[in-house]
Amino acid sequence: MIVPEDSLLKFEIPEIIYGLGSLSQIGLSAKRLGGERILLVTDPGLLVAGWVDESVKYLKEENLQYVVYDNVVTNPRDFQVEEGAQLYRQKKCDVIVAVGGGSPIDTAKGIGILASNHGRIHEYEGCNLITQPIPPLVCAPSTAGTGADVSQFTVITNKRANVKMTILSRAITPDITLVDPRLLKTKSSELIAATGMDTLTHAIEAYVSSLSWPMTDPHAIHAIELVAEHLVNAAKTKDMTALEGMSIACLEAGMAFSNAILGAVHALAHPLGGFYDIHHGLANSLLLPVVVRQNMEHALPKFAGIARALGAETRDKSIDAVAQQVPGQLQNLIAKLGLPTRLSQVGVDEADIPRLAQMAENDICMLTNPHCYMKAEIESMYHDVL
Ligand SMILES: [Fe+2]
Repeated sequence: MIVPEDSLLKFEIPEIIYGLGSLSQIGLSAKRLGGERILLVTDPGLLVAGWVDESVKYLKEENLQYVVYDNVVTNPRDFQVEEGAQLYRQKKCDVIVAVGGGSPIDTAKGIGILASNHGRIHEYEGCNLITQPIPPLVCAPSTAGTGADVSQFTVITNKRANVKMTILSRAITPDITLVDPRLLKTKSSELIAATGMDTLTHAIEAYVSSLSWPMTDPHAIHAIELVAEHLVNAAKTKDMTALEGMSIACLEAGMAFSNAILGAVHALAHPLGGFYDIHHGLANSLLLPVVVRQNMEHALPKFAGIARALGAETRDKSIDAVAQQVPGQLQNLIAKLGLPTRLSQVGVDEADIPRLAQMAENDICMLTNPHCYMKAEIESMYHDVL
């Protein structure tokens, strides 16, 4: 039997329009969803890079009214979601368009939740607590990392508690995503490297997730192969073929993790973002090798598949020997990208580890990890990379 008899599985993704220049479809896409007054959610970097002006041009070509909300930062805050939702209501918008990386897209989803469901964003933390459909949502991702443009996740920081709130609901899967690899050209090498490690973490965690199934596995494995082939080149040279490879890797990893969910790397990374404002991709990169080492015995054949996808030599080797290569392969990749490898390099304080571990133990992503770790084991993993 491929899946247990009592399981009902779903595979949900948005309409995907892919290709160089696909941003040009942003007005038409909003119009197709019934839009007349658009809330465009973005961040100041996208404005400077010129992508907001280009998006506005396409909205105007379709005679759409629009208002821009750009008060978005990395690790988006609860008050920004509330501010954006207020603007959406004031301007009587009917469609949300997000242009940017994971932060504007996650903010747009949060705005959508409040636009239809009212109350505070904190009330929706957890699984499937959204009762009303959000307004139509079109995304144009500017990074190859978060997969937020295809996923049913949003992660918003509770600023008062410095805690990241993960919200998971089919209701927040975007309607249309426009994947235009041109947008990656204006990102720094460091950002391409860190967001690419987020993509790799999505693919690995989805592949070993307790909810993985034959609809998610091929996308996860292909995403890992694409990262192995293209990430270093994309970050170092911004070669367009490499950026396209990473765009597709991000899409496929997003399709896999949105439907198979994530694991302990994200559970341990979320508190680092909430507590220290560390970039999400970088937090995942720091934690990925140590968590993989711990997870190894709980999903050995799958880690052998990951080793192969990362390009490991497999001839005459046992499954165990093939799988054991993964941590070293990851460390080599991180070294080539020049990313930090110790938590102390990004400001993590040893004294905070018990509190971080408590948050990680309670994170929703721990539920689908191949093994559920207790607080003491999580503390030990943080210490290993301190
Ligand atoms: Fe992620």
